[in-house]
Amino acid sequence: MIELRPDPAFVRPPARGARSLPPIDLDGVRIEVPVIVAPMSGVTDLPFRELARRLGAGLVVSEMIASWAMIHENAATLRMAEVAQEGGPNAVQLAGCEPDAMAQAARIAVDRGADLIDINFGCPVKKVAVGQMAGSALMRDETLAGSLLEAVVRAVRVPVTLKMRMGWDHQSLNAPRLARIAEESGIRMVSVHGRTRQQFYTGTADWSFVGQVKQATSLPVVVNGDITSVQAAQQALAQSGADGVMIGRGCYGRPWFPAQVAALLTGGVPMPDPDLASEKAIVLEHYRAMLTHFGRQAGSRIARKHVSWYSAGLSGSAGFRAAVNRLDDADAAMAMISDFYERQVALGIGRAPRATQQTGQEATAMSEAA
Ligand SMILES: Cc1cc2nc3c(=O)[nH]c(=O)nc-3n(C[C@H](O)[C@H](O)[C@H](O)COP(=O)(O)O)c2cc1C
Repeated sequence: MIELRPDPAFVRPPARGARSLPPIDLDGVRIEVPVIVAPMSGVTDLPFRELARRLGAGLVVSEMIASWAMIHENAATLRMAEVAQEGGPNAVQLAGCEPDAMAQAARIAVDRGADLIDINFGCPVKKVAVGQMAGSALMRDETLAGSLLEAVVRAVRVPVTLKMRMGWDHQSLNAPRLARIAEESGIRMVSVHGRTRQQFYTGTADWSFVGQVKQATSLPVVVNGDITSVQAAQQALAQSGADGVMIGRGCYGRPWFPAQVAALLTGGVPMPDPDLASEKAIVLEHYRAMLTHFGRQAGSRIARKHVSWYSAGLSGSAGFRAAVNRLDDADAAMAMISDFYERQVALGIGRAPRATQQTGQEATAMSEAA
């Protein structure tokens, strides 16, 4: 087991603008450190959530779960909604547009261990937002949005939270109004991705706009979008006045990144990246957990993107990725990962700064694929 501790050599006073982040209390569920791993289809499966949580993230949210698939107890869906046995709180995110179906799906998720239900008003993908009138499309129908939120709140005894964008487009920036509707419906916390649906993942996240949501409601507000460094987390909090941060793509290949943000924002203590020997242990632990969760064949295939993200910026990583992604045998892949990292340690070169963010197109393609 790898413990990430602040390296005393890096300890210095909190940077200007840093502030300590108090816990968020949601009526019985306490988020001790409000640095949250964002729900990401195809990424925040149980192995990833367990790893990020163990390394120090304050809360982890499942991939978006379609309410109709949950109700039909689709096997793959139930696996996506699985939560950790220990080390909660665990949030399960639901998507859908029918209040009764969402309520029923929420009850199933809670019966299966969810400590929190999060509702998706943010998904921009055409199949969801246009085909099913779910995700970000709900931001265009405030009456339906209110009924749906109320139905889910009434259905479960755990706190219900909402994740949304700024609005459908820049002509309809209604997140502040929806936050008030959410508050009246009994929602306990809102997270806001500082983009509109029409932006998908292009442009930059508008953290100041999230401040307008904060002004509109007395609920805890979490700022999301483009937080890929501890400095960005500080700026997002300073510009929005939010109560917590939510990190998505910044966690790619860095499940320890939320812990680094948490260390700085709660104690003013910068935490260095793990050294490459520790990173090797984390990658292999993650890989094994994927095999256990998904089965050896599917697990080794699904693990490929993570292995690619981890190895980015290391010497010879392009060749390594091409070779390891060709392997069907999980033991052979783990041996190659191990050799690759040992060579890095022996070379002692370290990592080139990595591009922590994909382009909007890549992100959209990924969520379309998920
Ligand atoms: C591959 C991928 C999958 C995503 N899946 C979901 C999802 O299931 N539910 C959701 O609310 N948002 C989803 N999102 C949006 C993220 O939660 C987050 O709001 C967005 O990526 C902006 O944050 P970031 O810049 O920190 O990544 C997804 C994003 C990506 C890149």
